[in-house]
Amino acid sequence: MSGKIKYIKDIPDLEGKRVLLRASLNVPIKDGMLVDDFRILRALETIEFLKEKGARTIIISHIGRDPKETLRSVYNHISKKIELDFVEEVIGDEVEKSVSKMKNGDVILLENLRSNIGETTNDIQFTAKLASNADLYINDAFAVAHRAHSSLVGIPRFLPSYAGLLFEYEYKNLSRAISPTQPALFILGGAKFSTKQPLVEKFVEIYDHVFIGGALVNDFYKARGWEVGRSKTSEFPVKLEHLLENPKIVLPIDVTVISLSGKSSNKKPNEVKPDEMIVDSGPETLKNLETLIKKSSFVLWNGPLGDYKMGFRGSTERVANIINDNNVPAVVGGGDTVALIHAAGLVDSFVFSSTAGGAMLEFLLTGTLPAIEALQASTK
Ligand code: 3PG
Repeated sequence: MSGKIKYIKDIPDLEGKRVLLRASLNVPIKDGMLVDDFRILRALETIEFLKEKGARTIIISHIGRDPKETLRSVYNHISKKIELDFVEEVIGDEVEKSVSKMKNGDVILLENLRSNIGETTNDIQFTAKLASNADLYINDAFAVAHRAHSSLVGIPRFLPSYAGLLFEYEYKNLSRAISPTQPALFILGGAKFSTKQPLVEKFVEIYDHVFIGGALVNDFYKARGWEVGRSKTSEFPVKLEHLLENPKIVLPIDVTVISLSGKSSNKKPNEVKPDEMIVDSGPETLKNLETLIKKSSFVLWNGPLGDYKMGFRGSTERVANIINDNNVPAVVGGGDTVALIHAAGLVDSFVFSSTAGGAMLEFLLTGTLPAIEALQASTK
């Protein structure tokens, strides 16, 4: 798709304009409390920019996948940082009334977009109604740009459309990762090798080294015919024999395992016993990884390296520190990885931490996303 994206800076005058701002406020919530506010902190820049310019900002976002989920806790959290109102509807009388009362610089947050089925089905009537409250549209939700939903691909057909500050930042930085400065290292962790395999196949051609960690590596050990005990592996058989022979692929040379009694120890990956479970990379692997990171001019990292849900955060935090201490230009993404790094107080040190998970993977793979194409088409 040709056509250039227009950015928020391209809008000549925002004063008094009703701006529909698609933000990505889909944050983890437990018992009504926010578990991590990284996405909210990142979303604030555009909101504050619009407020300063005197726009009337109508924030729209989804939260979770259950249409009954509410953005109220998110509202409570944001309202500690900026003044705004919450409207418990997405379209309808209440929204219209609230918008008509807005003054320059005011901000309102509407309820969870997915509470209306029209959002995910990209229903044209729903989209028209949503758009009717605004003069302009700004998409700042890169993290959900891979979904062809009304608020992402429908609205740009109705309103002059622009990318917000966070969207621009994500788009430009992730584009760098597609053609990195050499030598480049791709670190891939997490689980579900089948979803990440296309990325490995693509990036092994572009990057100098691809390190495979997390539960992904267990499939490689299995393919070598090694015992992986109770470790997590792909549900369905994966074909990766050709990758085993590729010298660019780097696997952990030692692993942390836990026994049935929960006792942890480090060992070679070909020494795992049937009752053991691989939960993290070992110290020798981290030493190798440190050498590799120091030699790299660019690092792309997606996915935690250990089973953080079981408390194994060691190698993920260590790698974050190595990148940070050596000032290696890096792009880090994936909700869990960034949340772990955020919790360790390191997020601001990174050259770039993406708020995106699935969208980041899809963008790296294809170089575009439905919401990017919608913004490009809108400029025509
Ligand atoms: C995300 O949280 O990564 C995005 O908002 C996408 O959410 P979804 O997978 O529920 O569409």
